[in-house]
Amino acid sequence: MVTLATKAEFGDYQVNAAMGLSKYVGMNPRECAAKIAEAILPKIGDCMGEPEIAGPGFINLRFTNDYLTSAAQAMAEDAAGRLAQPTVSNPQKIVVDYSSPNIAKEMHVGHLRSTIIGDTLSNMLEFVGHDVVRLNHVGDWGTQFGMLVEHLRDEYPAALTLETSQDVELGDLVLLYKAAKKRFDWDEDFKKRAREGVVKLQAGNEEELAAWKALCAASRVEYQKIYDTLNIKNLTERGESFYNPYLNEVVEDLEGQGLAVQSEGATAVFLDGYANKDGSPMPMLIRKSDGGFNYATTDLAAIRQRVLMAGEDGGEKADRVLYVTDSGQAQHFNMVFSAAELAGYVPESSTLEHVPFGLVQGEDGKKFATRSGDTVRLKDLLDESVRIASEDLRSRPENQSIDDDKIDKVARIVGVGAVKYADLSMNRESNYKFSYERMLSLNGNTAPYMLYAYARICGIIRKASEQDSTDKINWPEASTIVITDNAELELIRNLVRLPDVLKEVERELYTNRMCEYLFETTQKFSKFYESCSVNNAETPEIKASRLTICTATASTIRLLLTLLGIEVVERL
Ligand code: ARG
Repeated sequence: MVTLATKAEFGDYQVNAAMGLSKYVGMNPRECAAKIAEAILPKIGDCMGEPEIAGPGFINLRFTNDYLTSAAQAMAEDAAGRLAQPTVSNPQKIVVDYSSPNIAKEMHVGHLRSTIIGDTLSNMLEFVGHDVVRLNHVGDWGTQFGMLVEHLRDEYPAALTLETSQDVELGDLVLLYKAAKKRFDWDEDFKKRAREGVVKLQAGNEEELAAWKALCAASRVEYQKIYDTLNIKNLTERGESFYNPYLNEVVEDLEGQGLAVQSEGATAVFLDGYANKDGSPMPMLIRKSDGGFNYATTDLAAIRQRVLMAGEDGGEKADRVLYVTDSGQAQHFNMVFSAAELAGYVPESSTLEHVPFGLVQGEDGKKFATRSGDTVRLKDLLDESVRIASEDLRSRPENQSIDDDKIDKVARIVGVGAVKYADLSMNRESNYKFSYERMLSLNGNTAPYMLYAYARICGIIRKASEQDSTDKINWPEASTIVITDNAELELIRNLVRLPDVLKEVERELYTNRMCEYLFETTQKFSKFYESCSVNNAETPEIKASRLTICTATASTIRLLLTLLGIEVVERL
């Protein structure tokens, strides 16, 4: 019942419980508020002043200046570490399912969003102390592999031998997919072979397995390039094929429990509250009429693996599972989660959460595509952002004598960071228009702005602590913070709120909160720097204090950017 204060003049937090509670305890709201205030004072007295009762019964809580300054000082003392941030008292095992491209198909902007958002959420959850397992639920199984395998049999026979298959150069997989699809649609004989191919693959037949491995290996090379550019690490590939051995069991179990029934030759689960447009009940298919399994079947098996199975069976026994995909899959996940719960696959203590996101659109608000209407290749998209960043860096007079390597490095950080930040700073559920111009702008809530803000503060610290020639800063020793100006206080008040922001993101999984907090921090810093000189401070004590404030601020920006998957540089 404690919330952040809605206005600075109300203090740091407020408690609005008294108004609702008063009638149950037979007091007037202000009286009730006074009682609450009296009861909490001994618990908060170390860091907060006496609670104020305002208006009809609001309770305002305000940190004391002593607390604020010592908390900011503690952050600066731990500048090279985790900024004195607490870890959770209840560490959970959290599976984050993200990225998840499909083999032999193009990785599209939806996968880019999933990768960026999933990576940040994982970083953040890990930072606050959870045990995070990052899973890449690659689409590497399904009926389309029948036609691909048969196509390889004709065009790349070496791919059908286990020893050689993974070294076969398959060229452009998207073209390969198109060619196979075309044959599948036109050639009855090929179609028949493709159908048989899937069955053989699922049965573990050697040739089909070899061809499938060749396809996976070639795809992996493609998406690994994107992960390298984005600096995505620790993502474990556990594709749909992993769950293949369990699919039959899941279907039989659901049938046995009376949850799955035969429907027009297929096996389906009917759940309350899901209807087709015409009002007829909407099935969730778990086995097709030809015996093949569905996307949902794999997800049901994956849930058992992730929350139910104990460690020794190879399962995760996770407390929380997050699925980062586009909002178009909301219904799929709702249905899968409901069915899993009905089937008893989800223990009371575990939660399954879909973390949906909206579409990326072109600047015109239409489908995101190249000028000629083709889908945009992610590699090209990232390269273009880096190219623009590097052009801008090279055009600056102050950079003329800097060597190319250095410019390239910074351009990569700025260019890739801009794409990430643009995504993460949006409310993930809304659609957003992709614009290089906006994401690379030096003004506003963008990666370049944050990176420059960071480098600028590093510059101030460097100058004031006589480290002019160093590239890597030695964070100056933290000193006692003395408040001489309201701008100092406002900045510190903001810095000290970092744990609240992380808590909120941990709970609600909106990365834009982190970006908003970053933006507020940089703005409060500008105000501070406008009114308080660091280098020419009135006394050595005040200079040391301000330097400590700078250190805490720079470290906060660095920590947040790092969690957002953006590298920082101390000199730009
Ligand atoms: N491969 C899917 C796609 O491209 C995403 C998979 C998401 N994860 C899951 N467990 N269903 O849309």
